[in-house]
Amino acid sequence: MTRRIPYIDLAAQHRPLRQELLAAFAQVLDEGHFVLGDRVTQFETEFARRMGVKYAIGVNSGTDALILALRALGIGPGDEVISAPNSFVASTAAIHLVGARPVLVDVREDYNIDPSRVAAAVTPRTKAILPVHLTGRPCDMDALGEIAERHGLHIVEDCAQAVLAAYRGRRVGSFGAIGCFSLHPLKTLNACGDGGVLTTDDEALYQQLLLLRNIGLRTREDCVLFSGNSRLDALQAALLMVKLPHLGEWTEARRENAARYRQGLAGLAEVRVPDDPPELYSVYHTVVIAAPARDSLRDYLTSVGIGSAIHYPVPIHLTQAGRTLGYELGSFPITERLAGEILSLPAYQGLLPEQVDDVCAAIRTFYKEVRR
Ligand SMILES: Cc1ncc(COP(=O)(O)O)c(C=O)c1O
Repeated sequence: MTRRIPYIDLAAQHRPLRQELLAAFAQVLDEGHFVLGDRVTQFETEFARRMGVKYAIGVNSGTDALILALRALGIGPGDEVISAPNSFVASTAAIHLVGARPVLVDVREDYNIDPSRVAAAVTPRTKAILPVHLTGRPCDMDALGEIAERHGLHIVEDCAQAVLAAYRGRRVGSFGAIGCFSLHPLKTLNACGDGGVLTTDDEALYQQLLLLRNIGLRTREDCVLFSGNSRLDALQAALLMVKLPHLGEWTEARRENAARYRQGLAGLAEVRVPDDPPELYSVYHTVVIAAPARDSLRDYLTSVGIGSAIHYPVPIHLTQAGRTLGYELGSFPITERLAGEILSLPAYQGLLPEQVDDVCAAIRTFYKEVRR
């Protein structure tokens, strides 16, 4: 009988940190300083150090991080930005929301944007490439960097799922002009609510992003430009500082879980498990398998107490909002096929090796005995 294995267990993540988190909460409460300030600066400094960049800017979400990044680069009406339809909708929404046109191109079998299609989609209006390091696996940054260089394009990296991931030893978020991270509760480095971070090595962009996240205010009286309120709370920053020292070990735990899935599902012809090439340090925000009869497999796993998720069942161009972009069913065959095959398995830090084995055993049972 399979034990109950949830897709994610946030209570288990927080249990060992409970006292420290409560103490941090109490400190902020006593200080009474809740908006920006030292707590946020401290978190930004430490985050930047760990990501190998000069500057980090704390914001209220990964979505706003993307919007502010595009705004900081002056991208707007009349411009095109190339991205992938296989992502959380925010990556494309951000392009639309700054008034630019999202130009989508299909992905490779590893779920990430295909550089050869990016190259083919460049026009005189293209201003930037917005690659998404989906599942925590870095995109092909050599190829994308070369295209950007050749055409004079910015790269804005969507690192929402990829904190600490690295490509040829260099952290994602340090390749493009700006990196955009999410601190959503389901991310490996997670706030107790919404949050996000921008990274850059460029001092001018850093200064611009500080203004953009804070209503355009240089001082309380001096509004330099009109912008929204995208600030990170001091409380979230204090809680994140408790978690940040654990990010390395959490990431390693996820990588070990992924490796165990690779081993445990090896030889099962029906199921494709993500590979782990040496030039990539993938952080497995999700461990995504591609499998036939995915919906029946998912139902079976649910029936034996195993949680799973689908990231994402509807490609962006086929959502109600995405249909306004001018694409249709058939526009991106790889993304569309994968949307019907993918399944994210439990992979959170704290998942036990024997639980991974249980999931593998259940998947094997499904294909050998249940599926007809
Ligand atoms: C790829 C991707 N981009 C952007 C976002 C948006 O981040 P947030 O939910 O923090 O706004 C997310 C996560 O939710 C994401 O997975």
